[in-house]
Amino acid sequence: MTRKTVTITDNATGKSMELEVHEGTLGPPALDISNLYRDFGYLTYDPGFQSTASCSSGITFIDGDEGVLLYHGYPIEQLAAKSSFLEVAFLLLYSRLPRQQELEAFAAKISKHTMIKESLRGFYKGFYHDAHPMASMVGVVGSLSAFYHDSTDIHDPAHRELAALRMIAKMPTIAAGCYKYSLGEPFIYPRNDLSYCGNLLHMMFSLPSAEYQVDPVAEKALDMIFILHADHEQNASTATVRLAGSSGANPFACISSGITALWGPAHGGANEAVLLMLDEIGEVKNIPRYIDKAKDKNDPFRLMGFGHRVYKNYDPRAAIIRDMCYQVLEKFGDADDPMFELAMRLEEIALQDEYFIERKLYPNVDFYSGIIYKALGIPVNMFTVMFAIARTVGWVAQWMEMIAEPNQRIGRPRQVYIGEKRRDYVPLEER
Ligand code: CMC
Repeated sequence: MTRKTVTITDNATGKSMELEVHEGTLGPPALDISNLYRDFGYLTYDPGFQSTASCSSGITFIDGDEGVLLYHGYPIEQLAAKSSFLEVAFLLLYSRLPRQQELEAFAAKISKHTMIKESLRGFYKGFYHDAHPMASMVGVVGSLSAFYHDSTDIHDPAHRELAALRMIAKMPTIAAGCYKYSLGEPFIYPRNDLSYCGNLLHMMFSLPSAEYQVDPVAEKALDMIFILHADHEQNASTATVRLAGSSGANPFACISSGITALWGPAHGGANEAVLLMLDEIGEVKNIPRYIDKAKDKNDPFRLMGFGHRVYKNYDPRAAIIRDMCYQVLEKFGDADDPMFELAMRLEEIALQDEYFIERKLYPNVDFYSGIIYKALGIPVNMFTVMFAIARTVGWVAQWMEMIAEPNQRIGRPRQVYIGEKRRDYVPLEER
């Protein structure tokens, strides 16, 4: 195969350098600039990583122009319609779909790790009852490394796998714990006879004093949303997990750092922000005012749930979730729910607006997920926690892929320094 290169030339000196082109199986090729500074004396400048591939990965592929999302080659639409969250978790971790027996064995392994240590439950008491559940998640997940010393040796593949299974298994228990603590209700132990999402619903909504039946429609809806959220290549939280992991930090600490990055409203925090925004807009008649605010560069307001760094087309996850809204609202809410109607009108008006058309701003996955969560009775401050539970699978899969790379090195971005040049210290009395 011929080696592809691109030559760059410094117009000031006439000096040239050939850069090798890396081609993946799909997607745009990348210039290898790893020796650029050493051989050419330049750094590259790309704040926000708009044109930077920070790694090679075989897990998830996005074609943002076409609105395509694949997990190990399988289209998200097929997985959402035919698969289950645990099957997708297997796919992301082991790069292939499981056979029946393998899936059962995997589900059994996850079930084995759903409990958390009793003393870990004591951690919650350190938080005020009104702590945001994402804040509690960061603390509790980060502390797992203090409990599971038999899965923190990142050089041992068996430790890595055990840590991955533990985190996938314990996230629902930890998340439900955050919720129960905020309500002042007793923690509910996991039930391993239930599905992954059924168990989460049980731990969130049942009480020791009454029988709770998991609703199959709610269980299915949650499972599908979790499939959609399971991975999304090198987004801010995944890149954070990889960067933290590149230093050799233990996996629990890395996932905790991913949760912090996810929390921001530009990322996973957008699902909570969408609901707050819809509440604020209130009525269809107010939409034009808020569209104007979103377009006004002097106003920090943005249309939450709109726009994406990679998708310059309808987010394929948003299309799936939008359809699911009807089913969920029919069962639990009101198919004529004014909030759903408001969201649909907002989408319609924004998609016809020149500002949004020109910038290719479409609804993203978070635009509709909150409406479903709300209909399922999940409180707004738990929305991003739901996202974190699902994304844990992607985070651990990406972390495992990175650690297994033979040439894995610490991630260490450079900078263009714009501060003061060297200057001498002036003693206090002379300033
Ligand atoms: N409302 C109004 N204007 C917007 C919006 C929006 N939601 N999103 C982007 N723009 C404008 C932006 O002002 C800029 O305009 P101009 O070129 O005139 O300066 C242009 O569109 C490009 O935006 P950008 O900020 O340069 O794009 P980005 O790739 O840096 O940001 C984003 C992507 C998702 C952070 C941004 O679109 C946004 O803030 N959206 C709202 C928050 C949101 O829904 N986030 C969830 C993302 S999907 C789930 C996830 O990743 O977790």
